[in-house]
Amino acid sequence: MTNSLVYPRGALFEQVGMVLRARLCRYRHLAPQVRHFEFELVEGTLDFQPGQHVGVVGESENGLVVRPYSIASPPGGSRFELCVRKVPGGLFSEQLFLLEPGHEILITPPRGSLQLRFPVRRVLFIATGTAVAPFRSMLLAPEMWQLEPEVTLLFGARAENELFYKDEFEKLASEHPQFRYVPVLSRPSASWPGRRGWVQDHIAEVLGQQTDWDVYLCGWPEMIRQAREKLRQLGIREERVYDENTAVPYRGATGLPNDG
Ligand SMILES: Cc1cc2nc3c(=O)[nH]c(=O)nc-3n(C[C@H](O)[C@H](O)[C@H](O)COP(=O)(O)OP(=O)(O)OC[C@H]3O[C@@H](n4cnc5c(N)ncnc54)[C@H](O)[C@@H]3O)c2cc1C
Ligand SMILES: NC(=O)c1ccc[n+]([C@@H]2O[C@H](COP(=O)([O-])OP(=O)(O)OC[C@H]3O[C@@H](n4cnc5c(N)ncnc54)[C@H](OP(=O)(O)O)[C@@H]3O)[C@@H](O)[C@H]2O)c1
Repeated sequence: MTNSLVYPRGALFEQVGMVLRARLCRYRHLAPQVRHFEFELVEGTLDFQPGQHVGVVGESENGLVVRPYSIASPPGGSRFELCVRKVPGGLFSEQLFLLEPGHEILITPPRGSLQLRFPVRRVLFIATGTAVAPFRSMLLAPEMWQLEPEVTLLFGARAENELFYKDEFEKLASEHPQFRYVPVLSRPSASWPGRRGWVQDHIAEVLGQQTDWDVYLCGWPEMIRQAREKLRQLGIREERVYDENTAVPYRGATGLPNDG
């Protein structure tokens, strides 16, 4: 495959450690510069927690580059999905958009501390743009719904055509009446009837009087900083606000929650 992103093995291991081979099954368009990719490992199954990311290995003038991408699908089997924005002039994301079904990539094993905490009872997910991917993984995982939690997804995007996975989230809301999907647009059309601006300015209204929430943040670093400050002012305890840099508590020998 001429466009496959697969490199000589020896050099690779020295630079990025263990890698897994995956094949592109299909992709679809989500927004003008955003694609949903479905991959399958060439061998074995992919072991990960909802919310984690893989590193995709690419090439630049100066050698190999590894870029993290959140897994957008729930765990199970050898398949995994990514939601990727093409960053014009970026070193790597454009290379992913050259892939066609059958092409192969190399990934580093899943990692990352953005993971669901158990028991899941009352959760607010706050995401901007493609950073909704790890929350899609969590929302589509069956264990998310075991205790019929109250869940809100506050999702910031630019315009109506950037509301990725809108149909899926609306379907989820119809299946789980306690799930709320709350999109916020920063550059909507004049006829947009919903919320406008940036997500952090809608937190107070979405939370209401209740302070017993686990809050997960993913997206632009400045959004995370400002959202943390708002949450603090609203009385949410800092140890219940999680992002990519929050340490994950030990989850037991099997990796499953509450297994002692
Ligand atoms: C833990 C983690 C998970 C991530 N998951 C995803 C994911 O699921 N989907 C996804 O699309 N990206 C994700 N990213 C971002 C991704 O890793 C790359 O940074 C992104 O694809 C740009 O890489 P690049 O090599 O093309 O651009 P680079 O060469 O790294 O950057 C070129 C320039 O573009 C800027 N830039 C980077 N990203 C953007 C952007 N989104 N919009 C505008 N400018 C930008 C950079 O600051 C830089 O100035 C994630 C990042 C982290 C840290
Ligand atoms: N696991 C992870 O850590 C992970 C996963 C996926 C993506 N990401 C990161 O998430 C970011 C999202 O990228 P994207 O290109 O998909 O998003 P984008 O389309 O550029 O932006 C999405 C929304 O965020 C808004 N926004 C911009 N700056 C903001 C701020 N300071 N506070 C609040 N909202 C703000 C944008 O508003 P404007 O119209 O004003 O720009 C837009 O409405 C990137 O940094 C990406 O690397 C991280």
